[in-house]
Amino acid sequence: MLILGIETSCDDTAAALLEVKSGRFRLLNHLTASQTKLHAKYQGIVPEVAARAHLETIIPVLTEVLGHPVETRHASSLLDAIAITTGPGLITSLLIGVETAKALSFAWDVPLVSVNHIEGHIYSVLLSPVAFSETQHAASLQDIKFPAIALIVSGGHTELILMSARGGSASGGKNRGQYRLLGRTRDDASGECFDKAAKMLGLPYPGGPEISKRAKKGNPAAFDLPRPMIHEPGFEFSFSGLKNAIRLLIENIGRDVACNVSTKNDLCAAIEQAIVDVLVYKSLSAVTKYKPKTFILAGGVAANKKLRQTLSDNLPKSTRFLLPQPEYCMDNAAMIAVAAYHQIKKKKFVKYDKLKADANWELV
Ligand code: KG4
Ligand code: ZN
Repeated sequence: MLILGIETSCDDTAAALLEVKSGRFRLLNHLTASQTKLHAKYQGIVPEVAARAHLETIIPVLTEVLGHPVETRHASSLLDAIAITTGPGLITSLLIGVETAKALSFAWDVPLVSVNHIEGHIYSVLLSPVAFSETQHAASLQDIKFPAIALIVSGGHTELILMSARGGSASGGKNRGQYRLLGRTRDDASGECFDKAAKMLGLPYPGGPEISKRAKKGNPAAFDLPRPMIHEPGFEFSFSGLKNAIRLLIENIGRDVACNVSTKNDLCAAIEQAIVDVLVYKSLSAVTKYKPKTFILAGGVAANKKLRQTLSDNLPKSTRFLLPQPEYCMDNAAMIAVAAYHQIKKKKFVKYDKLKADANWELV
């Protein structure tokens, strides 16, 4: 089976060609055109700018991934489906991918599968490096044993989800109860907290990688930051209080001092530690309560080494820890193609004239 994945929900224009052989995934080609530099000067994503960039980039990205112009039918005749992210995300960004996928489906006569972006992140844990040889063990859907718990951490999401069975998010935009929300953030997402803290420290966007790079040279105990909601019952998160505490701390020590290299490293280490402590504590509480067979960490913040290591050190041995290769943590189209596979097997296709983008599509 050959699946073409397309992802344009935020600020990355991405396409991927995924082969599934005997139920095992093999990524043949993928490309993500990042708009990070374009948005860096605004310290955040400007939807209008993102949509224009998607429009300019989508066809060149598809041409590169397919290995030929989209108007030639060569590879399309081998395709079994086009997997497209229809939500959640920025509506102006989503529409570029969705309308492109609809046009290709009509022109090539290849069926469409509608994929939830968060479900894509969950399935990113099954992707192997692109240079993966066939003799190595490639992942299959069976690698996720149920019940499973997924911690989704990105610029827009911080959620703990209980999965009782394989997803099925394309079924008319509704899932069938396989996903249960244990808790989510009440305000800012964890990635957003990294990004906003970085902005306060004069570091470039996206802030997560910058903070974690500096944190390695700093002392996390140098500053005392709160761990919001850590001891409250339940699995909800809140990061806006931490963001305010960081702002007050910077004001107290003085902006000049905060921008001194070693103080900045210490601040980064303290910020990273506070965020990781909350995410890990809540995750381990959920694991104690629900005893999942699999624990999944996914989303852009899953690239954070401290978070990966701390979870790996503390999860019980009876729980299998699945996490994406660093290259598949950030938004990409390969994860969208993987998430589409179980829907394709069940022939859950959407006709091009029925496919719609849904900016607020909730997985749970
Ligand atoms: O999943 P993603 O690519 O886009 C969204 O769907 O939001 O996640 C982007 C987020 C940004 O907030 C970025 O700062 C964060 O992931 N991020 C990190 C790291 N790499 C990316 N946060 C902490 N540590 C990292 N190494
Ligand atoms: Zn994402």
